[in-house]
Amino acid sequence: MHDRLPLIAGNWKMHKTPAEAREWCAGFRSRLPSLPPGVEVAVCPPFTALEPVSSALRGHPAWVAAQTISDQPSGPHTGEISGSMVFSCGARGVILGHSERRAMGETDVMVAARVRAALDAGLRPIICIGESLAEREEEVTLQVLTTQLTAAIAVVRPSEVDRVVIAYEPIWAIGTGRSATPEMAQESTAAIRELARKRLDANRLRILYGGSVTPATARQLLVSPDIDGALVGGASLDPESFAMIVEAAG
Ligand code: 13P
Repeated sequence: MHDRLPLIAGNWKMHKTPAEAREWCAGFRSRLPSLPPGVEVAVCPPFTALEPVSSALRGHPAWVAAQTISDQPSGPHTGEISGSMVFSCGARGVILGHSERRAMGETDVMVAARVRAALDAGLRPIICIGESLAEREEEVTLQVLTTQLTAAIAVVRPSEVDRVVIAYEPIWAIGTGRSATPEMAQESTAAIRELARKRLDANRLRILYGGSVTPATARQLLVSPDIDGALVGGASLDPESFAMIVEAAG
C-alpha cells in the first residue's frame, strides 16, 4: 500500500488571456468550492495568467504551476523567466520537459538543469517524459523512458522525492484523442517507478499519466495502481470537464 495523494494537473498550454483565465477560475470555484477528499489539483496557465489565476484561486486548495522556467536564477537571458519570478506570481510548481518543448530543442541536459532550478526556487517540478509513435513501434519505449528519467532525476536529492512529480505522456497520445489504454499506461508508469527506485524512494514518487485524458476515460486510467493522477491538456480548458476529471480521481 502507498499513501500517494492523486494529483490532477491542468496544462493550459498557450491558451487563455488573463480575463479568460479569471473566468475559468470563477467557473471552477463555483463548480468545486472545495476539492473531493484525497485529491490534489494544480492549474498550469501561461506566464501571463499566473498572477491572475493565483489571485482568483486564493483561499482555494488548488495550486498553480508554470509551464517551464529558465535554468538560470537571473541575468542577461532575454525572454526567459526564472523560477523565483513565477514563484512570486503565485506558482508553487512547474511543468518541465514537456514534449512540445523537447520538440523545440529542449534536451535531457536542459530539462535536468531546469529541474534543479525549480527545486532551488521552491517549486515542485512536474517532469514530463514519453515516447514517440515511431519509438513505440520500434519497441524502444523503455530505453527512451530510462534515458529521459535518469537524466531528470539525477539532480533530485533523495530527500526531495515528495516534491517531484513525473508525468508519463506518450507523444502519440497528446492532443490526438487517442489515449493510451489503461494497460499500456500502467505498464509504463510501473516501469518508471522501478527505474526511479535506483535513486529515490519510489513508493513516495507521484507518477501521472497524460495524453487525451477526458472525463470519459479518467476513471479507468486512475484506478491503475501505479498511476497517481493525470496531466490534462485539452479537457482542462473547460472548468466543467476539468472538474469532472477531478471528481473521477476522488
Ligand atoms: P491533451 O490532454 O490535450 O492530450 O494534452 C496532454 C498534455 O500534453 C498535457 O501536458
